[in-house]
Amino acid sequence: MKNQSQYKELLQQAKALVDSEVDDIANMANVSRLIMEHFPNHWIGFYRVVGNTLILGPFQGPIACTSIGYGKGVCGTAWQTMQTQLVNDVHQFPGHIACSALSNSEIVVPCIRDGEVYAVLDIDSTEYAAFTELDKKYLEELVSYL
Ligand code: SME
Repeated sequence: MKNQSQYKELLQQAKALVDSEVDDIANMANVSRLIMEHFPNHWIGFYRVVGNTLILGPFQGPIACTSIGYGKGVCGTAWQTMQTQLVNDVHQFPGHIACSALSNSEIVVPCIRDGEVYAVLDIDSTEYAAFTELDKKYLEELVSYL
């Protein structure tokens, strides 16, 4: 199980990486890999807001859907509501977009800058209920560094 001190270490490394680079895509690439190294999951990555769509960004894991509409699926819902979506069973989430049949739970954290969502961080697990309030708290802090 993940604990607070593991997350603190991850956050410290993320901050050091992100502080030395201003480019969003480079930072998303390293952050998705960094999370994978600390907490291996089926899929970890970003979708960026491009116009009125979320477009696949840097990720670690299997090939994924490339575009997601506003309010669609878990990612589009995180964008629309500007709230982290903690989904214990994706099969129960109305409109869930199954990029991979192996995903059973997921967390999607909106990345907000100047009051607007510019990307979302999506982590998918093959386990049910893999994510908790602990993940929400620290992943929200992590994306605030971007
Ligand atoms: N399941 C997500 C789509 C993205 S992938 O899982 C990588 C959703 O419903 O928004």
